[in-house]
Amino acid sequence: MLAEKKITVGITGGIAVFKTVQLVSNLKADGAVVNVVMTRSAQEFVKPLTFQVLSGSPVYTELFDPMAGAVQHIELATRPELIVIAPATANVLGKVANGIADDLLTTVIMAATCPVLFCPAMNVNMYNNVVVQRNIAILGKRGFEFVEPGIGRLACGVEGRGRMADLDLIKNKIRNLLHPRQDMEGLTVLVTAGPTVEPIDPIRYITNRSTGKMGYGVASEATLRGAKTVLISGPTILEPPRGVELIKVETATQMYEAVMARFAGVDIVVKTAAVADYRPLQFSNQKIKKQDGSLSLVLTRNPDILAELGRKKEQQILVGFAAETSNLEGYAQQKVKEKNLDLLVANDITQIGAGFGSDTNVVRFVYPDGTVKQMPLMDKTVLASRILDEALALRRKQK
Ligand code: C5P
Repeated sequence: MLAEKKITVGITGGIAVFKTVQLVSNLKADGAVVNVVMTRSAQEFVKPLTFQVLSGSPVYTELFDPMAGAVQHIELATRPELIVIAPATANVLGKVANGIADDLLTTVIMAATCPVLFCPAMNVNMYNNVVVQRNIAILGKRGFEFVEPGIGRLACGVEGRGRMADLDLIKNKIRNLLHPRQDMEGLTVLVTAGPTVEPIDPIRYITNRSTGKMGYGVASEATLRGAKTVLISGPTILEPPRGVELIKVETATQMYEAVMARFAGVDIVVKTAAVADYRPLQFSNQKIKKQDGSLSLVLTRNPDILAELGRKKEQQILVGFAAETSNLEGYAQQKVKEKNLDLLVANDITQIGAGFGSDTNVVRFVYPDGTVKQMPLMDKTVLASRILDEALALRRKQK
């Protein structure tokens, strides 16, 4: 799979280094030519010898190594096709984001001409620290790649986001970066994502728990696979994937207008957005003051964007999402037909590992002919890729 691919693995000082031992072994087994660079703190956790044996090459640790060639860091930076930093500590992210190159690894990254992939791993509070998040955002904007850490029990005993991502996810990303599948070249994909926000007055609004993760995952995968991608998104804290055209909206009505304006030239639509079904009938220009007794809010229906696309569709493949808490299959079967969809991705958000905010999802693919495919628990980026595979297969069938 990775035959003869030249990969440099940079290791910084975090306990997740025990997973990197397996990663290096797997990359080697897949045929890659692996060189390892370790920082001083990384060597506190695992000896270079471990990686020397697994990679079959000497491990590089010193910027000023009297035995090495004069410009070793330049060689190490320009030789590989990919540099993977796993685990990446807050320290290395901070240094690279701010232009510091004070050891071999950061100097190699500074001189790199190939993609650099960071796999951060650290304590949840460190990860959530605004400075770390700012550094990640800076690096993302400058073209560095990331595999986000997962949520779970951390070495320090607390639960939270900070575990180095599963090796399968890291390997998937490595494969994508080294062998980008270009099977969506020439296609335009429209993705909607996130919640909508329906204002009540200048201060309050109605919204839902959607984070936009699923849709941003689909947009990112489609772009990586060569599609021109338009992402119409409600408010989220996510960084837009590189290369997508982002259209920001707030209300369902704005999303309706943005989608309708772009629909004609599109080949595939993936509607992951959790669009509010209702909005307040009247928007109060002034803050609504509290009063004795109860307050009634009259809601009116929002347009069903997807149903409207179903009526208008010509060549487009329409993929809808449905989040349900009961009778998943019954509602899904009904919706796929009523909305004239080609595929409905149904998820029961009461299941563990499914739904809003989580990194994973458990879904069923429901087709208009009544066929149902149960998918296993999957990371949202892997699921995004499966949905696009399915949309492409449906397009081929249609022709
Ligand atoms: O009917 P329900 O809201 O469960 O359907 C979900 C699907 O329909 C999602 O793909 C969602 O983006 C879309 N939808 C829409 N406009 C609405 C409500 C839902 O496009 N007003």
